[in-house]
Amino acid sequence: MKYVFGNWKMNLSRSEAVTLAEALSHAASGGRVSAQTQLAVFPPICWLDAVSAVLRGSSVEFGGQHSHSSLKGMFTGETSPAMIAELGAKWCLVGHSERRRTFGESVLETAARCAGAVNAGLQPVICVGESGTEQTDGHTVRIVLEQLRPCLAALGPTTKPLIAYEPVWSIGTGRLPTNDQIADVTATLHAETGGQIPVLYGGSVTPDNARELARILGVSGFLVGGSSLDADKFLKIAAEISDK
Ligand code: PGA
Repeated sequence: MKYVFGNWKMNLSRSEAVTLAEALSHAASGGRVSAQTQLAVFPPICWLDAVSAVLRGSSVEFGGQHSHSSLKGMFTGETSPAMIAELGAKWCLVGHSERRRTFGESVLETAARCAGAVNAGLQPVICVGESGTEQTDGHTVRIVLEQLRPCLAALGPTTKPLIAYEPVWSIGTGRLPTNDQIADVTATLHAETGGQIPVLYGGSVTPDNARELARILGVSGFLVGGSSLDADKFLKIAAEISDK
């Protein structure tokens, strides 16, 4: 199975989100998406209900971009993973670099949020990735393993997580690691998990580079930011990896 997941981040109006979800749902039901490729979208939380209504009965899945470690309580402004699950979501991103770096989420906090998602029955997409300086200084492997291991410890026996390797310096910049660099990190992640968890690549994936990236051994799909806001671009990326 290949996975092409779209992280809409803090973008799109309500009607734009609904229109995009409708376009993806129509494409999937019209046979434009291979049965071997799982599409999922991660809308802003306030549009999740509207998007879930569009995607009910569709093969396109959806999830939360972020969730709290607890299922309920006095946490103003946070979202319970149980609430996300109640809308029919299957997935939740955990530890996206914008959460880790911009909002200062620690490795342990991320692991707690991962455990919360698992408790709510969501499948976590565990995001890991090094900064530009960490990459230049040769710390990529150490950093991604430090981020990954506490999350792995939070998984349950029936959890079917994914890992998204997203170098921070590649997100939204148009700069990509070499295929060999991606393959090396992917191999490390597979070694750490006994090859049991599919690994996606994320960072500046576009319809133009998806074919080349899809060739990389061990990469089972993409976590797409900017290019997931346009149905045609997102579907083209999905088509490129489906051929592999
Ligand atoms: P990008 O974002 O595709 O816009 O680089 C990827 C991500 O942050 O998941």
